[in-house]
Amino acid sequence: MPNSYISGLGHYVPPKCVTNKDLEKLMDTSDEWIVERTGINTRHWVDIENESTSGMGTKASLIAIENAGLKVSDIDFIIFCTLSPDYFFPGGGVLVQEQLGAGTIGALDIRNQCSGFVYGISVADQFIKTGMYKNILVIGSEIQSTGMDITTRGRNVSVIFGDGAGAAVVSATDELGKGILSTHLHSEGKFAEELMAKDRCCTTPKEMPFAAESFYPVMNGNNVFKHAVTRFPEVINEALTKNGYQSNDINLLIPHQANLRISQFIQRSMKLRDDQVYNNIMNYGNTTAASIPIALSEAWQKGLVNNGDIICLAAFGSGFTWASALIRW
Ligand code: UT7
Repeated sequence: MPNSYISGLGHYVPPKCVTNKDLEKLMDTSDEWIVERTGINTRHWVDIENESTSGMGTKASLIAIENAGLKVSDIDFIIFCTLSPDYFFPGGGVLVQEQLGAGTIGALDIRNQCSGFVYGISVADQFIKTGMYKNILVIGSEIQSTGMDITTRGRNVSVIFGDGAGAAVVSATDELGKGILSTHLHSEGKFAEELMAKDRCCTTPKEMPFAAESFYPVMNGNNVFKHAVTRFPEVINEALTKNGYQSNDINLLIPHQANLRISQFIQRSMKLRDDQVYNNIMNYGNTTAASIPIALSEAWQKGLVNNGDIICLAAFGSGFTWASALIRW
């Protein structure tokens, strides 16, 4: 049975950088409040005339494919993770397939919000281990900025989220002990309404199609926070236990970038050193399904992810859903 490993990574964020001071001009908020409660300094927002969720996913994918030393024609399957698709249907995976010119390979969309990318890695892992495919593109891409209430009414959500995309190529290897060791997936739908967008349709509605309160995302931030700081350590420990490791064996934990305070809470409760946890929410905000692949790609670019390292990906968010993946690089 082949193992699966991440052979290439790439990320793309739109050029427009929005500071907390910029947000002060749009709503009653302050740089101090945002930094203190979330750790975020800046986020990137698209110019929607020039970008799309699938288009950003394609840009990140081309970088990941090149870094894997592969060509588009080597990719067997696409897994596209987002909560902000270009259209209500079809999903973004088929749009990436067309934009890449990737033959008629299969494309699957995953709608699991913040944990979407880890779910995507898990699906890719299964397809590789059964021998069905050799190289699978897993993409997380989000355009949040066009679907948020950027007035004072929506400030508890809109200061947090940002736009961007990240991609990974998951490939087959016969090398023993290398690659994705295990993945762990959970959900608890009784909390669906704690963080949701009830009537959101796509990233580019021509006009507001529904009442604002059902179109824009709503979040019970306090309750999401409380569940996040419990579920993150739980699902990370689940992965460690499954593979006979302890928290000090982790070389790098890449938590979903929900809120810097959440990442710091996990770090403290798991007694991890600063160099064992990678955060970049300060620069990009929370990019939902894109946050882990952007962070992983950036950490890899900086030389923080090396052969033999134990890398842990972990996510929690809307659903609620939560998940982890343990990888020997
Ligand atoms: O992606 C995964 C899912 N998401 C998360 O994991 C997010 C989890 N939750 C959080 O990160 C935090 O709950 C928030 C950052 C969303 C909010 O922080 P908080 O410390 O829980 O604040 P709060 O909601 O309890 O609000 C405190 C105060 C309120 O004012 P009053 O009632 O005390 O007068 C809010 O109206 O802060 C006010 N507030 C703001 N003030 C300035 C809420 N948003 C803002 C804002 N600027 N942007």
